[in-house]
Amino acid sequence: MSKYLIAGNWKMNTNLDEAKIITDGLHSFINYDSEVEMLICPPYTHLGFLSEIVDLSRISLGAQNVHYEESGAFTGEISNDMLLSVGCEYVIIGHSERRTLFCETDVNINKKVVNSLKAGLRVILCIGETLEERESGLTNSVLKEQLNIGLAGVVDTINLKIAYEPIWAIGTGRTASTDQITETHGFIAEFLKNRFGANTIKILYGGSMNSDNAKEILSILNVNGGLIGGASLKSESFLAIYNSALELC
Ligand code: 13P
Repeated sequence: MSKYLIAGNWKMNTNLDEAKIITDGLHSFINYDSEVEMLICPPYTHLGFLSEIVDLSRISLGAQNVHYEESGAFTGEISNDMLLSVGCEYVIIGHSERRTLFCETDVNINKKVVNSLKAGLRVILCIGETLEERESGLTNSVLKEQLNIGLAGVVDTINLKIAYEPIWAIGTGRTASTDQITETHGFIAEFLKNRFGANTIKILYGGSMNSDNAKEILSILNVNGGLIGGASLKSESFLAIYNSALELC
């Protein structure tokens, strides 16, 4: 098992030409290492094309969302089977942008988590608190609720990862402090240990991670990787973060 997972969430960015430029840039890098897994999560429309041109033994491919039903009258939605059929290995579920902008609830998110795991995808479940919740001392109770409901019915965790993304740190240039990350990742690790026994589930940090702060963040106890937005849109900055993880191995 790799030591770190460095994942890029491209969100609703890049057309196909731009996607190719990023992946070409990533491919040109030679120091791939089994200790650090690289994952890119482009928009749905690029997945089939990228799975043809990306060396999937060096770069894993993931989607940013999925629907929990297998098929049917769900206009505009994408199923687990569709993702698997285009070479997708991972799926991000419950990103805070899905929760706040598209009204996703913990119950919906749980259906996705359970069904994607059942389908054989690797799931990155995102959790995180608002600034108001943090300032009111509610961080741990918010995360506990998101984990309790989001992971209901999950037994086999081999394909499960958690991403802690404080909402106030996403796209703001403001990262959580080392103390905040240490404490919160420690809380999540303890939760997972109590819930599943021996805990080998990776916990990623997300929120304004970049080439300058990655090494410090990735060296914190219980931080097993990063979920990177803005800095994953340029191969240079994403590779610099990947390199930071390599240096820590
Ligand atoms: P930024 O790295 O742009 O803050 O985004 C983080 C994120 O939301 C990744 O899922």
